[in-house]
Amino acid sequence: MHRKCRERTLFCSTARADDARVSYGTNAVSFLSRAGEGTLRRAFRTDKMLSVEQIRAALPLALNETNLPLPNKRAGKVRDAYVLEDGRTLFVTTDRLSAFDRVLACVPYKGQVLNQLAAWWFAQTRDIIPNHALAMPDPNALIARTAQPFRIEVIVRGYITGVTTTALWYRYALGEREIYGYRFPDGLQKNQQLPEPIVTPTTKGETHDERLTPNEVVTKNYLDVQTWGRVYAAALTLFKRGQEIAERAGLILVDTKYEFGCASDGTVLLIDEMHTPDSSRFWKADSYISRFEKDDEPENFDKEFVRLAYAAQNYRGDGEAPRMPNDLWIQASERYIAIYEMLTGKIFEPGAYPIEPRLRENLIRAGIVIE
Ligand SMILES: Nc1ncnc2c1ncn2[C@@H]1O[C@H](COP(=O)(O)OP(=O)(O)OP(=O)(O)O)[C@@H](O)[C@H]1O
Ligand SMILES: [Mg+2]
Repeated sequence: MHRKCRERTLFCSTARADDARVSYGTNAVSFLSRAGEGTLRRAFRTDKMLSVEQIRAALPLALNETNLPLPNKRAGKVRDAYVLEDGRTLFVTTDRLSAFDRVLACVPYKGQVLNQLAAWWFAQTRDIIPNHALAMPDPNALIARTAQPFRIEVIVRGYITGVTTTALWYRYALGEREIYGYRFPDGLQKNQQLPEPIVTPTTKGETHDERLTPNEVVTKNYLDVQTWGRVYAAALTLFKRGQEIAERAGLILVDTKYEFGCASDGTVLLIDEMHTPDSSRFWKADSYISRFEKDDEPENFDKEFVRLAYAAQNYRGDGEAPRMPNDLWIQASERYIAIYEMLTGKIFEPGAYPIEPRLRENLIRAGIVIE
């Protein structure tokens, strides 16, 4: 079994594959294991659920951008933000799907899932740290407290995985053994559970995310020591809460990215989104161990399968992305909806398409847009 030897030394001896069983062997939950190999949604499909045909019909109507009669629009890759003049910001989560640092497609209902799932998580975790969410006037819209975002992204990782240049497994496979200021032993396997979740910050907003050790957040003047202490502790507590809730839904919350910021009164807030399939990796719990032991990739419910579809076409982010069949985006939609339903235990209730007229009406009703 692992022991902690000294600060920031994660492993004392080569970790064993069966260590991963500690959390998930006996607890792997519920309907997923009983449901066999069908898709997750089929495993608990009811008549109320959105059909593939409904998703296909919404495909040409998926929300690409908004043009609301409001000033101060700022478009991110996924969200359109309108900074209101009263210390609040309206975020509209569109259906844009980004990967390889570009927008690849619009996926029906993705925006609604992200918005409602993040809001659900905010409600599950507001005892840990205050968050920016104030109200949800439309399924795709959030009114939030405007914050000054900290210039770091706070990533928490429970497993060694990932193929991007900031990912733990990518660095480890290059031969690095000191990563983000933590020591790793030889002999780890891809997708192995870490003895405890770790915080691996990166810089934000520059062309490339730069890796930071936890200490460098302070020594490089990203945050003062008290604020970082608070953010660091909150991130770990949020992640543990997320893992517990995911586990009850038959999922593993593998890793995630948080953003924090400072409100005008100085309060440190959790901002942006949380524990969504855009910001997190989720694996299916009941097949994790058997697949890990066979060196098979876990069954994932995040954006990884889109990246893999591109990789199968030999595309890894250089040059123009190939066109992908509609079925890929329909499957993406199904997965986003499935993870929403699994985590929240609710049936996804699709908002009307096209979104923009409905959104305007709801914003008028909320007094945000004036007719
Ligand atoms: N409460 C808040 N106050 C101010 N900014 C926020 C708040 N919550 C989130 N943000 C910022 O709004 C943006 C959200 O939009 P989105 O997720 O589309 O952006 P992104 O593609 O992740 O990043 P970028 O904006 O760099 O393109 C992020 O830049 C995030 O830091
Ligand atoms: Mg974002």
